Amino acid sequence: MCGIVGVLGLHEAAPILVEALKKLEYRGYDSAGIATVNNGRLERRRAVGKLVNLSDRLVHEPLAGKAGIGHTRWATHGAPSEVNAHPHQAGPVAVVHNGIIENFQDLRDELAQKGYVFQTQTDTETVALLTQFHLEQGLAPVEAAKATIARLRGAYALCFLFDGHEDLLVAARQGSPLAIGHGVGEMFVGSDAIALAPMTNEITYLNEGDFAIITRNSLDIFDVDGQAVVREKKNVSIDATRVEKSGHKHYMAKEIAEQPVVISEAVRYYHGLEDQDSGRLDEIDFTQFDRILMVACGTAYYACFTAKYWFEQIARIPVEVDVASEFRYREAPISPRTLAIFVSQSGETADTLAALRYVSGKADKILTITNSAESSMARESDWTLPILAGVEIGVASTKAFTCQLTVLLILTIEAALSKKAISADEARHKIIALRTLPGLMSQALELRDVIDLIAQELSEVSDVLFLGRGAIYPLALEGALKLKEISYIHAEGYASGELKHGPIALVDPQTPIIVLAPRDRLFEKTVSNMQEVMARGGKVILISDAQGLKEAGADVWKTIEMPPVSDEIAPILYAVPAQMIAYHTAVAKGTDVDQPRNLAKSVTVE
Ligand code: AGP
Repeated sequence: MCGIVGVLGLHEAAPILVEALKKLEYRGYDSAGIATVNNGRLERRRAVGKLVNLSDRLVHEPLAGKAGIGHTRWATHGAPSEVNAHPHQAGPVAVVHNGIIENFQDLRDELAQKGYVFQTQTDTETVALLTQFHLEQGLAPVEAAKATIARLRGAYALCFLFDGHEDLLVAARQGSPLAIGHGVGEMFVGSDAIALAPMTNEITYLNEGDFAIITRNSLDIFDVDGQAVVREKKNVSIDATRVEKSGHKHYMAKEIAEQPVVISEAVRYYHGLEDQDSGRLDEIDFTQFDRILMVACGTAYYACFTAKYWFEQIARIPVEVDVASEFRYREAPISPRTLAIFVSQSGETADTLAALRYVSGKADKILTITNSAESSMARESDWTLPILAGVEIGVASTKAFTCQLTVLLILTIEAALSKKAISADEARHKIIALRTLPGLMSQALELRDVIDLIAQELSEVSDVLFLGRGAIYPLALEGALKLKEISYIHAEGYASGELKHGPIALVDPQTPIIVLAPRDRLFEKTVSNMQEVMARGGKVILISDAQGLKEAGADVWKTIEMPPVSDEIAPILYAVPAQMIAYHTAVAKGTDVDQPRNLAKSVTVE
């Protein structure tokens, strides 16, 4: 995924563009660039690597002008390099792009035959050159951009800037989000409202297929059929401070620390302050469903996998879960009376969106659980449940994961009530347990020093195993993902009962095995699996409560003592030590915690 911005301002555009791109760096950071029009002349500055490299360049080679566009890149076509960095320019037009132009090769061949020469391996350069071609055919800038867009296939959020035009931006979206920000005598374009938060909170989101002509004092939008439309202007309350680090060393540290607050907000959103029901789930009638399908990617998939245990054990509803990149091509038959649930922090992940579109028209209802209420997935669902995690900048998902789990558990309790699988009193007790979670998380956050010491030693190893059983097994997978994606240490998660069927061959004194063992109904089973590992010299880090450590912690390598917790909320609480182990190990290794190599916050391409 990439981040794009545009400014038609009353002040120099370059610093505004760079500030906006800082808010979008979580979307990709392989290269960055801006272009401005100054005294009618279009000029660019680009740099490979993080945005700071572009900022450094602008110090030595400043770029004037009050109209501009900017881009921060996660490379799809063409290696990360200055040549492949956006904005891409062809003669009198520059363009920034988020997405993938799937027919770019055909367009490239067609333009090459017309004598156009390509400087890059990117799909986006095709957009710039095709627009130049239309300009050279005599079309005005807006018409040239419109004619280009009509030829494109694939996903794109685009913003065009034209030589000689200091009061014009053209924007379009198809499959990638795009927001227009309204200033006073100024206008802004951004991949999301976060980028625009420092300048405005008056936001118009473009719909799929929309095309926008923007000047400092006008916004004309045309829909996919070319009809002029008015899209709602919303006051989007993104507190710009909430996208700062608030004194933490990394966004990830801040977001781990925010979990007690955002989880209590999520519980309150659905269940009020006391024992009320907000009514926000009333329209979801589970009696009309016999089964649930859950599809997501990465950490969001592990949230779904955890919820499978809850829906089946508490609500007695059979659940199928799958990763979206597989599901979207599996051609799975969808039975009648199926509720399809999609979980996505960004609401824009291409594989999950494609899976949702496969299910659309087949499942009885589609429900999306997301942190982005204005996202493509939210727009294409029958129901959308917000997770209220607040802006999550760190590429490694933490508070979004535990907020997804919180909403999924709340949904499970609602389903169990509807299906009469539990009584109202049992439901009330589960909500009460959920209300204790923020306090328990705050206690778990106090483990930072214990975990930091362990992390110093983990940072030296090359392989780690995570073990969990039952509803904790998906968390073993998530803990392994967290560690590998930010510390680059190879890690695997396993169902602890599965180890003896082969993976136990991996056990040696060099490989730490992290055992996530709340004292739930499978605790004894997990402990016996752990002892099989220790009998073969395995170095075990046992994470359990005081009683659990007393019963099973005698000969383990390290222990992490957690507060006692009920079975239902254990998978949410135990996410905290898993996140902190990954964080502190990555810090000890010196990797880039917030922007790990090769990753982006949301993958809006296949
Ligand atoms: C999480 O730590 C990862 N960065 C990644 O697996 C992420 O969860 C996945 O890409 C799904 O993103 P989404 O929730 O925005 O759909």
